[in-house]
Amino acid sequence: MSGSAIAVAGLTVAFGNFVALNNLTFEACYGQVHGVIGPNGAGKTTLLDVLTGKSAPRQGSVHLDGTIDLGRMTEVQRALAGIGRKFQKPSVFEALTIAENLDLALRVHRNSLLREVLARRADKDAAIDRLLQTVGLADRRDTLAGVLSHGQKQWLEIGMVLVQDPKVLLLDEPVAGMSDEETAHTASLVQSLRSPDRSIIVVEHDMDFVEQVADTVTVLHEGATLFEGSMAAARADHRVIEVYIGR
Ligand SMILES: Nc1ncnc2c1ncn2[C@@H]1O[C@H](COP(=O)(O)OP(=O)(O)OP(=O)(O)O)[C@@H](O)[C@H]1O
Ligand SMILES: [Mg+2]
Repeated sequence: MSGSAIAVAGLTVAFGNFVALNNLTFEACYGQVHGVIGPNGAGKTTLLDVLTGKSAPRQGSVHLDGTIDLGRMTEVQRALAGIGRKFQKPSVFEALTIAENLDLALRVHRNSLLREVLARRADKDAAIDRLLQTVGLADRRDTLAGVLSHGQKQWLEIGMVLVQDPKVLLLDEPVAGMSDEETAHTASLVQSLRSPDRSIIVVEHDMDFVEQVADTVTVLHEGATLFEGSMAAARADHRVIEVYIGR
């Protein structure tokens, strides 16, 4: 697969009189990691909310694969169509082990392929092992999620999203609150999740992280695109410096 994964056109989202997204146009492509940065309140999380169906736009359209109108679909339908999201705050089940958390995610997400997997216990264990390998928690399989470090909880939650094998993976501030070491691990994890048939959209304030993982960066400001290009070019753009980097 190549080309347009997510295409947003003329998107406006308002909360009462407050306009959070203002006639926004945005595109994210397969095979790429697309960074979204910008000051607090710029509308970054709101954009993800519209993609997943959590918020409804006042105007505008959102298409998957250039043709599928997400605006007509419920949150569950969008998840089944391939939109997977990791929220800004991690929400794992602390009283369950890592493997049990992944098991639960597998049970909750029902598409035909996974139903087959679930039918056979050995296959399910293998699926959990693969996910644990991917996120780097293979040696913590039976550890209670509650005792994990903040970074490990974030990786577990990414694993729980990967259960869906999402075509579009949305990560909201994946490295917020992480140590430098955890941030570096997360950067390699995101790189390892790249695929020709996956588009990854990463919202972050950590610009060094974004520079490491993102092919393209969109800078949002007051609900609209201020800049689009490489992270290196964003750092040098005087408007970006003025509204974001310089603050
Ligand atoms: N449900 C809501 N009701 C009212 N206002 C909202 C709602 N959700 C978001 N907003 C407002 O919309 C604006 C954009 O919020 P959003 O969460 O998208 O910002 P953000 O770019 O993700 O910021 P941050 O970097 O702080 O996470 C903010 O001013 C926020 O207060
Ligand atoms: Mg946000």
